[in-house]
Amino acid sequence: MEVIISKTYDAMCKEAAEIVAQIVNTKPDAVLGLATGSTPLGLYKELARMHREEGLDFAQVTTFNLDEYVGLHPNHEQSYHYFMNENFFKHVNIPSRNIHIPSGTTSNYAAFCEWYEQRIEDCGGIDVQILGIGSDGHIAFNEPTSSLGSRTRIKTLAKQTIDDNARFFAKASDVPVYAITMGVGTILEARKLVLMANGKKKATAVAQAVEGPVTSMCTASALQLHEDATVFIDEDCASELKMVDYYKWIQANMPGAPKK
Ligand code: GLP
Repeated sequence: MEVIISKTYDAMCKEAAEIVAQIVNTKPDAVLGLATGSTPLGLYKELARMHREEGLDFAQVTTFNLDEYVGLHPNHEQSYHYFMNENFFKHVNIPSRNIHIPSGTTSNYAAFCEWYEQRIEDCGGIDVQILGIGSDGHIAFNEPTSSLGSRTRIKTLAKQTIDDNARFFAKASDVPVYAITMGVGTILEARKLVLMANGKKKATAVAQAVEGPVTSMCTASALQLHEDATVFIDEDCASELKMVDYYKWIQANMPGAPKK
C-alpha cells in the first residue's frame, strides 16, 4: 500500500485527480468507480477544472458509484444520485447512459444487486475505484463485520454512520437505516484503489486501515489485500500513523528498486 501525505486538503485532492486524469488520458474508455461524501468533493472540483481548462475528456468514460441510501428518490437532495449530479456529472461530459449508481428505489433489490455486479463485469471491470472512509473504518457502506468477500447488497447502517451523516439531514431520524452498497469483495476487484481521507476525525480509522490488522471490524483494512492501493491523506489525518517518516521518506526520495 502506498501512503501519500499532503500538506493541505486541496493538495491531496490535486494528487488524487492527477491519478484519475492519467488513467482517463491513457485509456479514454476507462471505467471509474466513484464515491460520495464530503471528502471527494475537492477531487471532483479539480477533475471538472481539468475538463474545462485542460480538455480532460470523459466522453467515453463509464462510471459506477459505490452506494445509495435505500428509499431516497434520485431527486432527493441527500440522495447520492443528486450529490453526483450536482458535484460532478453536470460539470463534465460523461454520457448519461454510461453512468451507474445503485438504485435506492428499485422494487427488487436482490435482482438489482445481481444486475449491478454483472454490469460492472460486462463493462470490463473498474479501472480505478475512489473511496472515502467512515469514522468507523467503513468503505462504501460496508459497516464493521461486513464480510471481506461481500458483494453488492443491502446493508443496515451502524449508529455511528447514522450520527455522522445526520449533519446532512434535518434530523437524525431522517437518515435512512438501509443502504445498497458494493461489497468489499466487489471493491477489491477494481484494478486500482484510491482512498482519500482528511482531518483529525479520520486519523484513527486511517491508522487502523493502513497499519492495523486486516479485519471486518474496519473494512478499509481490506485495502491491505490489494496489490495497487494508494491512500491520500493530509497531515492531520496522518497524526496517528506510526510509519509517517517512512511514508514521507519514500515520497520525497522515490527510491528506484532494482529491476532484476
Ligand atoms: C458515507 C459513504 C462513504 C463515505 C463516508 C465518509 O458513509 N457511504 O462512501 O466514505 O460517508 O463521508 P465523508 O467523506 O463525508 O466523511
